[in-house]
Parts: sequence; C-alpha cells; structure tokens
Amino acid sequence: MRIRSGFRGCIDMTDRYAVIGNPVAHSKSPRIHAAFAKQTGQDLEYGLLPTPLGEFAASANAFRATGGRGVNVTVPFKLDAFAYATSLTERARAAGAVNTLKFAGDTVLGDNTDGAGLVYDIVERLEFSLAGKRVLLMGAGGAARGVLRPLLDQRPTSIAVANRTVERALALEQQFGAQGPVRGGGYADVKNESFDVVINATSASLSGELPPLSPGAFAPGALAYDMMYGDKPTPFLAYAQQHGAARTADGLGMLVAQAAESFFVWRGVRPDIAPVIAQLRAS
Ligand code: ATR
Repeated sequence: MRIRSGFRGCIDMTDRYAVIGNPVAHSKSPRIHAAFAKQTGQDLEYGLLPTPLGEFAASANAFRATGGRGVNVTVPFKLDAFAYATSLTERARAAGAVNTLKFAGDTVLGDNTDGAGLVYDIVERLEFSLAGKRVLLMGAGGAARGVLRPLLDQRPTSIAVANRTVERALALEQQFGAQGPVRGGGYADVKNESFDVVINATSASLSGELPPLSPGAFAPGALAYDMMYGDKPTPFLAYAQQHGAARTADGLGMLVAQAAESFFVWRGVRPDIAPVIAQLRAS
C-alpha cells in the first residue's frame, strides 16, 4: 500500500482501486483493502470514489482514465455497474447486480462477490457446512437474490425464501427454482417449520426491526446469520439467541470475505480474512 503523492509519473505504476457509492465516506473498504495489501505484499492504492446519483458511468470512466484498475460498487450503483460491464461472470448474472468491476483496456468485467463472501464466511471461517441443511433465507430484495446461487452451490436440502411481500419471494422461486430446491412464500408459510440455518437478508435490522419469524424457526444446532452488523447484536440475532439458535454471526465476516473475493478477482491472491475481521471488531 502506498500513500498517494501528487506526482504520478510513468515510474509510479501503483495500481489504483476504489469503492464507488453514495454515500461512501464511512465505507470500511479502504481499511480492509489496505490490510489485505499489507498482508499479501501487493502494491496498490485503494480510495473512495464518491459519486453523484446518475453519474456512475462518468465517474467510472474518469477513474479508468487516471489508471483505475477496478472498483467495488456499493449502494445505490450495483445495477448501474451491471449495465456498465462489458462482460459478466455467471454469479453476477444470477445476482442481477455487480459489486466488483475489473478494468483491463476496453474490457470491463462485472462480478458479484457478495454470495461467495457469505458462503466463505459460513463454511470456511465459521466451519458450518451447508450441505444437506435446511436453509431459511429472509428477504427477497437484492441482498437475497445476490446470495441464492452461491448458497445453492453448497447443496443444501432446501432453501425457503420468506418475504413480507410474498410476490417478491415467489419471483425468486421462479428465477432459481430450476437450479435447485428453492421455494418462496410469506413468513406464515414457514411458521411451523424449523431450519438448520436462518439468514437475515432483509434490511429490517437497519431500522431496529425484526422480520415476523416464528420462535420455533431454529432447529437444534442452528446457525443464525444476519447480513447486517453493528456494535451490538442485531434484533434478529438477539431473537435467535433467545429462541434456541446454537450459533449466531453478524455480517462483518461477510463484508470482509466479499472484499477478499474482490481482491482475488483483481490480484489473483486470496487474503486471510480472520485478522482483518479482528482488527475491525477491535476498533
Ligand atoms: P436489499 O438490496 O438490501 O435487499 P431491498 O431490495 O430494499 O434492499 O430489500 C429489502 C428487503 O428487506 C426486502 O425483502 C424487504 O421486504 P419487502 O420486500 O416486503 O419490502 C425486507 N424488509 C425490510 N424491512 C423489513 C421488516 N421490518 N420486516 C421484514 N422484512 C423487511
């Protein structure tokens, strides 16, 4: 990692990356990628690319023109990035959104590392296998859609998608049902079932709310995973603890793991996420 200087002549070949979003001021991505670069000995810069609404392409073009090699894409530009890419990975196509762009000449590769990040965090870091498990995925927005394909690749017995607006869950069943055992419905449809893994992909935690999940949702040994994170347990994780979930995890691990996957896409090197999670947690 190099501190940016005013001089960028032809001898300074440090590759540049950034996170593009609105807002991005509080993004943890620069810290995460700085830690990855240090850990792996990669020479790169990673900064913030605050971008006005409607100006995604202009901002990305300008960044590429000044040596940008790739960006992470966050709210609200994941669909703009999907449209901007000249080629898409299969997982980005399945997600219908792009969170990672890699620039090489005129080519723009669009990828989505969110689902891989979630799966890596659950399977590798938490050592909780998803194979043969009954999964409940709460929420049917972009966050849920982004992780369905990578979850299916782990060969769970079933994935129930429950959403407040039932039609959105049924739409996901329609999109992914041919690829694996995915069914959609409302929370009432799963109220008499229990699950080995319950994943909160809703934005309810942001407003301190809890999806209307039955207290019997957690099977013995169940993992409760919230894609959101904070200083204290989210309402969903607190509820899970009270109602018998054996393990709980918030989304900080997913955040770092999706960043590590992006780093791998760009640099071909896979950083170790555990020390970076610990570092973020400590601050
Ligand atoms: P994202 O891209 O983060 O998924 P989104 O597309 O706005 O954002 O989706 C937010 C998800 O959280 C939706 O599934 C939403 O349910 P609806 O489709 O019924 O709106 C869900 N959600 C938000 N607040 C919720 C709450 N208090 N209880 C249950 N679900 C909630």
